[in-house]
Amino acid sequence: MDKIKILAIETSCDETAAAVLFGDKIKSSIVYSQLNLHRKTDGIVPEVASRAHIEKIITVVEQALLDARTRPKEIDLVAVTIGPGLIGSLLVGVDTAKALGFIWGKPMVPINHVEGHIYANFVREIKNKKSKIKNIFPAIALIASGGHTSLILMRGHGNYKLLGSTLDDAAGECFDKVAKILNLGYPGGPAIAAAAVKSKILNPKSKISFPRPMIDSGNFDFSFSGLKTAVLYAVRNLEKYYQVTRLPDYIITAIAAEFQQVVADVLISKTIKAARVYKAKLIMLGGGVAANKLLRRHLRAAVKKELPNSLFLIPNSRLCTDNAAMIGLCAYYRYLKDKKNLKNWREIKINLNPKL
Ligand code: KG4
Ligand code: ZN
Repeated sequence: MDKIKILAIETSCDETAAAVLFGDKIKSSIVYSQLNLHRKTDGIVPEVASRAHIEKIITVVEQALLDARTRPKEIDLVAVTIGPGLIGSLLVGVDTAKALGFIWGKPMVPINHVEGHIYANFVREIKNKKSKIKNIFPAIALIASGGHTSLILMRGHGNYKLLGSTLDDAAGECFDKVAKILNLGYPGGPAIAAAAVKSKILNPKSKISFPRPMIDSGNFDFSFSGLKTAVLYAVRNLEKYYQVTRLPDYIITAIAAEFQQVVADVLISKTIKAARVYKAKLIMLGGGVAANKLLRRHLRAAVKKELPNSLFLIPNSRLCTDNAAMIGLCAYYRYLKDKKNLKNWREIKINLNPKL
């Protein structure tokens, strides 16, 4: 294996992240989360996010190098997320990476953030443990995050076909909006998951039920905005019925549990269908929503039951939410595939809508 040393930078949304990799081995991964900042506004204010990136980026890069006991001159290439994401946030990472590429005289690799989420699955540790199957392609990747919900067919490294994506809200965005409706705080994913766990204790026989959007649509697209509206109307109707301005906890937790189950059901059903249609040898999960324990457990069980000969990979939760290690892993595989196609810092540009 080629032990090329990579410095990777990721600032597409609200995490300031840098990582150092030796080949596909993560030597350090620093993630400075802006969550506390955005809690105050119950969501991300882009201007606040980019300012916070500026304040932290140098410290985060220095810490990544320090933790990996690596000096700048040992780095062989600099990888950076060029999009999709918030433009002000992306600018900070891209300009920092370009400055380092220029000063250190290193080649660069521009990375699509969604592709990075897929490659979180290719970290050496899980790959080694599970690589009983030599040939892993065709593979299906479900990427569900705050900005994306996509089913992707992979026929080889760097060879993608987008099978379907959300027509409106992303799954994570829907978690965040529903958490807001239920007054559970930000970010919505972990808040809903925590409330859903309590639901079993408080209300074992909940009657709350929402439709599974587009579950039988016959394609691989998703839609989550109607589900958010269904939750909103359910809350309003229940508040009216009980004549309260805030529903009791046992109802809130029951709604959270049913909502989480609906999202998981839809994501799992479409992923299994896609894996069947394309005879996937490998099924992968990625993105912040992939940190959801119910989704992880149920998708693993569904693959085991329905596609017993397929391999199932899932990154640990820290690699599901935004981080720079996944960007470095993606850059590593790009480098292996096409060593001659490294870029000069001048060629690195933000692309808000990069093609897979
Ligand atoms: O991948 P990510 O860190 O950033 C984007 O690229 O968007 O994903 C963040 C999203 C947020 O919407 C957050 O609510 C969701 O992932 N999320 C979760 C969980 N942890 C984070 N959703 C469901 N369950 C979780 N445990
Ligand atoms: Zn992401």
